[in-house]
Amino acid sequence: MITIALAKGRLADQTMDLLEQLGMDLSEIRKESRKLIFNTNDGFIRFIMVKPSDVPVYVEYGTADIGIAGKDTLLEEGRQLYEMLDLKIGRCKLVVAGYPERRQSGIINTHIRVATKYPNITRNYFSSRGENVDIIKLNGSVELGPLTGLSDVILDIVESGKTLAENGLVVLEEVCPISARLVVNQVSLKTKHDEIKAIIDGLRKLLEGEAL
Ligand code: PRP
Repeated sequence: MITIALAKGRLADQTMDLLEQLGMDLSEIRKESRKLIFNTNDGFIRFIMVKPSDVPVYVEYGTADIGIAGKDTLLEEGRQLYEMLDLKIGRCKLVVAGYPERRQSGIINTHIRVATKYPNITRNYFSSRGENVDIIKLNGSVELGPLTGLSDVILDIVESGKTLAENGLVVLEEVCPISARLVVNQVSLKTKHDEIKAIIDGLRKLLEGEAL
């Protein structure tokens, strides 16, 4: 049996669309429910529904053989696992954002405060440029940082840009593009090689538009 950790939330529907195209029956998971573990009828695959930031944790420990999570989560968690495939869904960008006036004054002209859900990415990003910043970890609605004066800027993901625009904020710097990745436990890749390879090959063909 292969266990797949799926991220609940904004990535869930697109991920399920992709797996259904591979022929997996996800009708049980699609039903509104609080259930967290699902088995396919053939008993070949078990899905566990986890918080996005926990996907790499389950995969590193081998509780899940495969995980699907955003590159942002993988960068932030920095877990030991193999990143096997860019699924090209859940595309967005990690950016530094703030009030437009900061474009003129420069982002880093004094010791600034950065609010973010991604403290590790933020530390790495600014320290790689030799810039020291105060990082304030938030768990959501990070845009409130500059709006309330809690922080000078934010480092966050932008998808449509609507949240920034509706709150009078702009992108100041692009950090990196983000999309969903398929990751695999390092031991599982050896012990369950054929099963995992079949799933990855199927997804790769789908993404390349080849018939399965
Ligand atoms: C994310 C992100 C931004 C918003 C960007 O938050 O942190 O706030 O989406 O999307 P947009 O560019 O399409 O407006 P999410 O909706 O995941 O909720 P959260 O703030 O509670 O984490």
